[in-house]
Parts: sequence; C-alpha cells; structure tokens
Amino acid sequence: MSSSQSFKRYELPPLPYKIDALEPYISGQVIDVHYNGHHKGYVTNSNATLEKLEKINRGEISGYDIQGVIRNLVFNVNGHKLHSLYWQNMAPNGKGGGKPGGKLADLIATQYGSFDKFKQIFTEAMRSLPGTGWTVLYYDTETGNLEFTTFENHFMNHIAELPVVVIVDEFEHAYYLQYKNNRNSYIDAWWNVVNWDDAEKRLEKYLK
Ligand SMILES: [Fe+2]
Repeated sequence: MSSSQSFKRYELPPLPYKIDALEPYISGQVIDVHYNGHHKGYVTNSNATLEKLEKINRGEISGYDIQGVIRNLVFNVNGHKLHSLYWQNMAPNGKGGGKPGGKLADLIATQYGSFDKFKQIFTEAMRSLPGTGWTVLYYDTETGNLEFTTFENHFMNHIAELPVVVIVDEFEHAYYLQYKNNRNSYIDAWWNVVNWDDAEKRLEKYLK
C-alpha cells in the first residue's frame, strides 16, 4: 500500500428536522446532546479508527490490538448507521404517530391481526431490552415476515445492514435528560413520533 492510499471517511448526515421538532415527546435538549454529541462522536471515532487502520496498514504502528481496533470500528460504525436510521424514522412537527398505511398495514394485519396487537408486542419487546441497546422491526427477506429483534449496545453480528423498517434507540442518552430512569415513558412518547411514511418507504424498498 502506498502512502497515498486511504480509506474513505464517514460523514455526519444532517438532522432531517429542527432540533426541537419532536417536542414535546422528545425535547430539543435530548436531541441536541444525542445528535451533536453522541452521533457526531460515533462518526469522529469511526474515522479515527480508520486512520489507525491506515497507519497499521502502512506499518507505522507496532504492538496494536487488531481485535480491539475492529471492535472499536464495529461499535462506532454501527452507532453511526443506526442513528442515521433512527433520525429518519421519527417525524417532526406533530406529523408522527398514528397508524401505518400501505403495505406495512397489510403485513401487520396479516401477521398480527390488528395494529393494537402489533403495538402491544412491539412495546413489550422495547420494554424487555435489558440495559442499553435498540429494538428493531425488520423485514425478513427469507420468510417475508415482519420480525422483531433487540440488540444490546451497538453490536449486531455484522455491520447494520439488516432490512430495518422501524428502529428505536433505547440508550439512556436517548431519554434520560427528559425522562430520567423512566424508560417506559420514553417508549410511550416515542409512539407519537414514529414516522410510518419512512417505515413504508423502507419496506417497499425491501419488497422489490
Ligand atoms: Fe443513541
């Protein structure tokens, strides 16, 4: 590898709405810390880890812990990718919440019988997550099912390219400034900002 070779860098995507656009359900202060602090940090740390890999590749660092470097990369890259989905998956200015339409509504009706039953199971999945992590509704391309998963921290077994339909951040930084240790209140509030149009758009992309 010549010294001119390098890895391309990650970039922080713009927040798709104003910092206080999810109020009163998620405060501007929470989003400010979450986006400008945490998400930006994952991008910065992803790129710093890529820089380290470049140096390792050029033989400029000796005695490195490659497993640690990769773990660091996975944590930060997934943190970046998952948050990019999470922002899009919420709708600003009171346009979120309600019920989905389109193919998503059809699949929910076929699999779960009713939106209320689906919402109950989704809520139970979110509440079941031990500690820090995410709850995800995804489309399984093998079965054609909408299925739930939770994962702890940012760690999936691979970089986050799962066919995500709906995603909820359950790190304390996503709610603590507003809801303290009452995570269930954040989960209940989140139902008012979920962006079903974004979920439908994602699902239709996977159905093609
Ligand atoms: Fe987060």
